Amino acid sequence: MFHVKHHMGEDWQEGGFALYIHWPYCKAKCPYCDFNSHVTAKIDQDAWREAYLQELDRAATETGGRILRSVFFGGGTPSLMDPATVDAILDRVSKHWRLTNDPEITLEANPTSVEAARFAAYRHAGVNRVSLGLQALNDQDLRRLGRQHSAADGLAALDLARSLFDRTSCDLIYARQDQDLASWGEELRHVLSRGPDHISLYQLTIEEGTAFARLYDAGKLHGLPDEDLAADMYDLTTELCAEAGLLGYEVSNYAKPGAESRHNQVYWRMGDYLGIGPGAHGRLTLNGHRLATVAHRSPDLWREAVRKNGTGEAPREAIAPEDQAAEYLMMSLRLTEGMSLARYSAMLGRAPDAAKLAMLEQDGFIIQDQGWLRATQSGRLLLNRLILEISEA
Ligand SMILES: C[S@@+](CC[C@H](N)C(=O)[O-])C[C@H]1O[C@@H](n2cnc3c(N)ncnc32)[C@H](O)[C@@H]1O
Ligand code: SF4
Repeated sequence: MFHVKHHMGEDWQEGGFALYIHWPYCKAKCPYCDFNSHVTAKIDQDAWREAYLQELDRAATETGGRILRSVFFGGGTPSLMDPATVDAILDRVSKHWRLTNDPEITLEANPTSVEAARFAAYRHAGVNRVSLGLQALNDQDLRRLGRQHSAADGLAALDLARSLFDRTSCDLIYARQDQDLASWGEELRHVLSRGPDHISLYQLTIEEGTAFARLYDAGKLHGLPDEDLAADMYDLTTELCAEAGLLGYEVSNYAKPGAESRHNQVYWRMGDYLGIGPGAHGRLTLNGHRLATVAHRSPDLWREAVRKNGTGEAPREAIAPEDQAAEYLMMSLRLTEGMSLARYSAMLGRAPDAAKLAMLEQDGFIIQDQGWLRATQSGRLLLNRLILEISEA
């Protein structure tokens, strides 16, 4: 039996506190993407700035004294934000919350030359980490992915980001149409040779409601790799990143030791986070209750709600302890460090069945070590199944 030492009302402190800001606009909609991103002819930057500031003021009335580990500008394409908007937001953030000594302030950027030209201004505003959406390093694939930049633009933006920011990450999508193992290896080696300290490598997923899903359903998305090739690509990815000193600390994320994304760690370790902006999700523990928050998804409706109702959020819902346990299991098993059995048991109100866990361990899917439970590499390949098995233990 595990010693249940956690006070549930304070559990979020194990993960810390972060702020997510969602910017909902992009220059064009990529055919694979189901994020809350929209294309519009004109953006009223002043009105957006005011709406964000108003939301920050509201959020601060509930969480004002907390210490903030991370601010993340995600999207959409936040590199379409006016640097003055980013500056005003960060200024207001530092008025409302205390920041850790070394806060992580990330902005997601697309590597077109116009956006790269704003990097210095973002840095000046206080951004210290850029997450660059490279996606691919060959022009034909970039076109197929509907991207607005070339491979050369991508590398130039990466070099510029590395020269300006303390920390740089980039995103690539693999398991693309007609991609083979050798060319993926070459592409990844090339990116790693430019020295990012963090890299997110996602297998192309066909998301419902996207242009790719429509093509796929019509049998017109040719050349996608089969499961075996995708698994080989995943193994090669892990191997090449390790050679470059970037260790996989989550299913799709690799970092030099110490350069892990602190923001995502707050999510995966079940900390509290404010979600501000259209469609943004949050988790907030208030008066001992853990609440799920979600903001209105449509950019126009969100701004109208902020103006008229004084909040962009839809009604909040309390998360039952057993649902928190399920969420913690799902999030933490993505991490190499895994999950604390004491925390999980406290949420669940009981310890999971030790004999069932021992069986999963014997079969090589998990490792238990000093009160922590981790998925092995073969467990990670079957993660959804594994999560189900543990939740039933
Ligand atoms: C919020 S999105 C994009 C940020 C930025 N607008 C960009 O496009 O570079 C974050 C990342 O998710 C990944 N992504 C989005 N849709 C995906 C999909 N269907 N399959 C795999 N990765 C995807 C991309 O690598 C993307 O950079
Ligand atoms: S991948 Fe990025 S740029 Fe493309 S539509 Fe999605 S959020 Fe916008």
